[in-house]
Amino acid sequence: MKKFIEDLTNITGQLKPSLIGSINFKSKLIMAPLAGITTSPFRELMSTCGAGGVVTELISSHAITHSNQKTLNMLRLGDEAIPAIQLFGNSPEMMATAAIIAAKYGAKYIDINMGCPVKKVTSRGAGAALMKTPAIAAEMIRQVKKSISIPVTIKIRLGQNEDKINAEEIVKIAQEEGAEFVTIHGRTLNQGYRGNANWDIIENIASKYQIPIVGNGDLFSSEKIKSRLKITNCKALMLGRGPLKNPFLFLAELDHNFGIKDYSSLIEILLSKMVAANYNDKLIITNIKKHAVWLSSGLPGASKFRYNVFTEHSLTKIMNLALAFFPSNENSEQITEDESFLAGGHG
Ligand SMILES: Cc1cc2nc3c(=O)[nH]c(=O)nc-3n(C[C@H](O)[C@H](O)[C@H](O)COP(=O)(O)O)c2cc1C
Repeated sequence: MKKFIEDLTNITGQLKPSLIGSINFKSKLIMAPLAGITTSPFRELMSTCGAGGVVTELISSHAITHSNQKTLNMLRLGDEAIPAIQLFGNSPEMMATAAIIAAKYGAKYIDINMGCPVKKVTSRGAGAALMKTPAIAAEMIRQVKKSISIPVTIKIRLGQNEDKINAEEIVKIAQEEGAEFVTIHGRTLNQGYRGNANWDIIENIASKYQIPIVGNGDLFSSEKIKSRLKITNCKALMLGRGPLKNPFLFLAELDHNFGIKDYSSLIEILLSKMVAANYNDKLIITNIKKHAVWLSSGLPGASKFRYNVFTEHSLTKIMNLALAFFPSNENSEQITEDESFLAGGHG
């Protein structure tokens, strides 16, 4: 594993840094926030794999300002590439107070969630519902920006539905309020994760505004990432579900790929990072199961592997299953396009 980490470090060292606004990312490919997934150990792993930057999952400004200990723990950052903390809420004042607390944890910037489609969030006027209330969205950016000295960004969708696409209006507001950049997930709130991300709209907005745009949605293969990078008006691209199946996607630009056999090492690294973060056994097992199964998806024998992993309770046996499965698939091709893969989430 030591040799693998050395090789990986040498390769990721060849990635070109990318300045977006005043933030110097390690490359043009940023790991997206994924609720319940982009924990600190996982963000560290993605950083090791070459992510240009990482973002926490959405964290409640209400819970932060009410000193909820479990939530405060979510603010802890590890050895991560340009980590951002993402906050959500409906009150500009509360978001500003939460941002002051979050900034103290060492975030390089604060990202405001304006894309979460989950009812529990939108019914309170937070997440994607903020796109329906541009005046509150503007006030939120203004107040958060005023409260901290690090940059502020927002992550949005295209709009509420295909008849109410207003991403451009929100981008304009973000520019006026001095946000550092805007990430656009190319779907509407109503769409959830159905259909395809609309890159025409993202590219059109990115070509028209001074404020940098980070494009996001459905970048599941190295080929797709490379061809998008060649033509895009975006300053960077954000990858969400893709790296769960193939964390080496962050190396797309380098035309270098580690193999499926090396997924075993990634699982070992993740395990060591969770141990270092003092995760209890139950949490470690749940996480290893999830990630091993995602990494296996699209590979021959994945469904049997999934069954074996999910019916096993011992960490050692689960690790042994994974350490045997990936090397045996060394020459297999991973099928990367799969619409049903993780079709739910908070942005
Ligand atoms: C399980 C899951 C959880 C998510 N959690 C968040 C979140 O906490 N904050 C956020 O802004 N977006 C969240 N998203 C949206 C992703 O960041 C991203 O915008 C979306 O998945 C599209 O990118 P992709 O096609 O590369 O996955 C989530 C998506 C999924 C599938």
